[in-house]
Amino acid sequence: MEEREISQAVIQRLPRYYRYLGDLLDNEVERISSSDLSKKMNVTASQIRQDLNNFGGFGQQGYGYNVKYLYTEIGKILGLDEKHNFIIIGAGNLGQALANYGPFEASGFVLKGIFDVNPHLEGITIRGVAIRMLKDLNQFIEENDIEIAVLTIPKTNAGEVADMLADTKIKGIWNFAHTDLKLPKHIIVENVHLSDSLMRLSYKIGHSTGRLTE
Ligand code: NAI
Repeated sequence: MEEREISQAVIQRLPRYYRYLGDLLDNEVERISSSDLSKKMNVTASQIRQDLNNFGGFGQQGYGYNVKYLYTEIGKILGLDEKHNFIIIGAGNLGQALANYGPFEASGFVLKGIFDVNPHLEGITIRGVAIRMLKDLNQFIEENDIEIAVLTIPKTNAGEVADMLADTKIKGIWNFAHTDLKLPKHIIVENVHLSDSLMRLSYKIGHSTGRLTE
């Protein structure tokens, strides 16, 4: 496929297309029109056409989209055709919940290690992956070709751990700690704040019930 610059807004929407197309594939749907996909996804058919036109040649007049092809191509754009080894740092409630989530692997994200500073957790395994102590972090990253670190530690300790990670070969951090990390530019950070999403829900409820008027 031809390489083109794709807007960030489109990139933001790609995982949702990927998810819907994956469901269609699971249901053995071979092709779908933009209008049927738009009804399923609750977005306009023109938005779908515009978004998918970015990748050229996926849709055909009178045929619609080839689901498998589109799914595969979007997967490639998202880098899901390659394996991504990751570690989790912070084996508390959230870290353990993420470690227990098996389906990441189906998208190519392979959990290789879990790290903490609490010695009581050392050696406990989650889905066969042992919790290790933070002192072993650098060597583990080096030896296991780790690409992504998931940070599920308190924000007070996140800066220090981020500094440690900056000295390794880590390429990206999935940051759940409620703080902005200061890292060299070559390390990509994706922040996740579930509470932001909850606050947006609260706002929308306020509007729909008339509690908030503006
Ligand atoms: P928790 O207290 O259950 O677990 C934190 C774990 O981090 C503990 O096991 C602790 O020993 C470990 N830890 C502390 N310092 C460390 C260090 N320097 N290196 C390695 N491990 C270290 O907390 P929980 O509920 O799992 O939450 C973890 C963090 O994630 C909290 O800061 C919380 O505010 C945040 N959080 C963020 C969410 C989000 O949407 N971004 C949602 C829920 C929690």
